Amino acid sequence: MRITVLGAHGKIGMLLHPIFRSNGHSVTGIIRNPDHSEAVQKAGAHPVVCDIEKTDDISEAIGNVDAVVFAAGAGPGSGAERKWTVDRDGALKLIDAARKNGTSRYVMISAMNVEEPRGNEVFQAYQKAKAEADKALRESGLDYTIIRPGKLTDDLSTGRVSLGPDLNSGEVSRSDVAAVVAEVLEVPETAGFQWDLTSGSDEIDHAIRKAISQSEEL
Ligand SMILES: NC(=O)c1ccc[n+]([C@@H]2O[C@H](COP(=O)([O-])OP(=O)(O)OC[C@H]3O[C@@H](n4cnc5c(N)ncnc54)[C@H](OP(=O)(O)O)[C@@H]3O)[C@@H](O)[C@H]2O)c1
Repeated sequence: MRITVLGAHGKIGMLLHPIFRSNGHSVTGIIRNPDHSEAVQKAGAHPVVCDIEKTDDISEAIGNVDAVVFAAGAGPGSGAERKWTVDRDGALKLIDAARKNGTSRYVMISAMNVEEPRGNEVFQAYQKAKAEADKALRESGLDYTIIRPGKLTDDLSTGRVSLGPDLNSGEVSRSDVAAVVAEVLEVPETAGFQWDLTSGSDEIDHAIRKAISQSEEL
């Protein structure tokens, strides 16, 4: 598969490239800072520089690929405005680019509980931006999978998670998120689903099968 990762120098993005490569895929990594090219290349992705806030049509940067992954984010230090321009509009631009390029598969890294905004103004903007992006993706006609992790940690991967349509809040390591995202792309039957993700006790392939059957029963 040819896969493009948006947010390729992010913490999760950098964990995704080697997994995708070891699964036999080629990876294009979208970055905004050319200084990140070498690190992204070393991690296994072909770097393409594109600032998604400054580019309306990102289809050329994304390229003709089989799948796209949204792993970008304005980050914790940003104000509310960039939650809209990165977390919402960046994801919407990726939907438009996928459609334009004939890419049907889109995996979104979202966040838990974004439909119930809480916290300060900036955090609420983040949650609303994520919720709007997820809604647009669900209605896009693309073969989407939306993964909604709980609070992210930098712990080592356990390879064991909880995945499902409606989980209680919790934490999960970025490395387990990357492992789940990579496995989701190996299982086409995950298209059309949105799942919460926390650390847990299920091995990832089992967690995915369980989440599919739970969602089909709803
Ligand atoms: N923090 C949490 O607890 C939590 C929980 C659930 C979900 N999430 C979501 O998980 C996802 C990934 O998290 P993470 O920790 O890997 O994020 P991260 O390390 O902050 O990575 C985000 C990446 O997005 C890139 N980016 C920002 N603005 C851009 C632009 N205008 N054009 C192109 N790229 C741009 C950043 O580039 P630069 O390196 O150049 O800044 C960065 O590499 C995010 O969507 C986040 O919202 C976070």
